[in-house]
Amino acid sequence: MSHKKNAKRVFEHDKKLTYCIRTFGCQMNENDSEKLSGLLKAMGYTYEEDVYKAGLVILNTCSIRENADVRVFGNIGEFKTIKKTNPDLILAVCGCMMQQREIVEKIVKTYKQVDLVFGTHNLHLFPEMLNNYLVNGKRMVEVLTDSNTIIEDLPVDHRYPFKAFITIMNGCNNFCTYCIVPYTRGREVSRQPEKIIAEAKALAADGCVEITLLGQNVNSYGNDLGDNINFAILLRELNTIEKLGRIRFMTSHPKDLTDDVIDAIADCDKVCKYIHLPIQSGSTRILKAMNRKYTQADVIDRVAKIREKIPGIAITTDIIVGFPGETEEDFEETLKVIKICEFDSAFTFLYSIRTGTPAATMKDQIPEEIKHERLNRSLEILHEQSLGINQTYQDQLVTVLAEEPSRNKANRLTGRTETGKLVNFAGDPEDIGKIVLVKITDTKTFSLDGIKVSQE
Ligand code: 5AD
Ligand code: SF4
Repeated sequence: MSHKKNAKRVFEHDKKLTYCIRTFGCQMNENDSEKLSGLLKAMGYTYEEDVYKAGLVILNTCSIRENADVRVFGNIGEFKTIKKTNPDLILAVCGCMMQQREIVEKIVKTYKQVDLVFGTHNLHLFPEMLNNYLVNGKRMVEVLTDSNTIIEDLPVDHRYPFKAFITIMNGCNNFCTYCIVPYTRGREVSRQPEKIIAEAKALAADGCVEITLLGQNVNSYGNDLGDNINFAILLRELNTIEKLGRIRFMTSHPKDLTDDVIDAIADCDKVCKYIHLPIQSGSTRILKAMNRKYTQADVIDRVAKIREKIPGIAITTDIIVGFPGETEEDFEETLKVIKICEFDSAFTFLYSIRTGTPAATMKDQIPEEIKHERLNRSLEILHEQSLGINQTYQDQLVTVLAEEPSRNKANRLTGRTETGKLVNFAGDPEDIGKIVLVKITDTKTFSLDGIKVSQE
């Protein structure tokens, strides 16, 4: 590209200064996108919803969800055409998938429309990368393999003023045999508690009602910080922030869910009575093959303990069906545990190969039709249980954080109970962002209906 053309590009780009981010995957990725958005706004960029109009488009990719790569490559492909009509568009691709070398190699070789590639560990350096690109017009690819520091004080552009994610730790040390995350997000690094508390206080002072603490395994928070801090202590500290209404967290690994965390949830009035506890399987044999480090009996014991200490708590889980070597008997053990634990709901996944993980090369991969059949059988039980639990909310008064107008009905809002149940209710648009009292008038498998009641 000639120098002259580069200069023109900078000029035209400066005129627009708009960006759009497409986020794939989990809350961690959503939070990373909020940080990218914060950095770009600090550089003077404004958000543009329409990818066809934006001067800069960032695809924040995920490698955990099934077929994520197919979707991302489909998205990148689309930009070949978009760039024909808008050649000045800058396309950046980042996130977990970029931590996989073969994916980056494929992009570099085949997808010339991608201008910038960066990973999960150097997201904070994106402004520098972008500026370099604007000056010299050269395609840049920079991915770090790991990082043992957390970059603090990045500007975060929160999507909602009343609820926010706070990442409390990065990475994962567990190496479950099916999972790519330890390879894409590196080892566990916890943020200093003072930084987390300061962030939560600042959010609360700005009117944020609900925070969600994020980490791949929040129960091991602080293991790398010495004896004076752990997840239970962090919860108790955050609970003292007066203006906060609700504290949520995810994800909990059953092996690290200690009694002190259960006690903290029980004692802290702002900590929501809700826990996401992925069990993955109910068969001790499969759990061992997954390297989960707990047994069926451990899961049943933990869930019983939680229910004993925190009456009314909602417990949700993740289940993988069709892990290599899973027999009909193993799967029936999972169904048994789903019933004993009475999960409120579950995210169910068909096992799928992640290249580079130990399970990818295990013998006895399960045929797709058996996986589907098992998924359907587990969903049947889970849906029945969800409905049964939701029916216990009939005519109850619950607190709901009103989040947005209902999609298709006027004068109705949607929000969530402390236990994470989705509620559609009659309320005023001024209630958005507030915790209101709602009487439940109807119950369904995936949601509740209600009407706001006055709080006098
Ligand atoms: N196949 C299927 N599901 C997976 N998960 C993670 N890796 C895989 C895989 N290879 C699921 C787990 C995890 C959730 C976020 O994604 O259930 O808890
Ligand atoms: Fe993946 Fe296991 Fe770590 Fe969760 S705990 S991110 S499933 S390796």
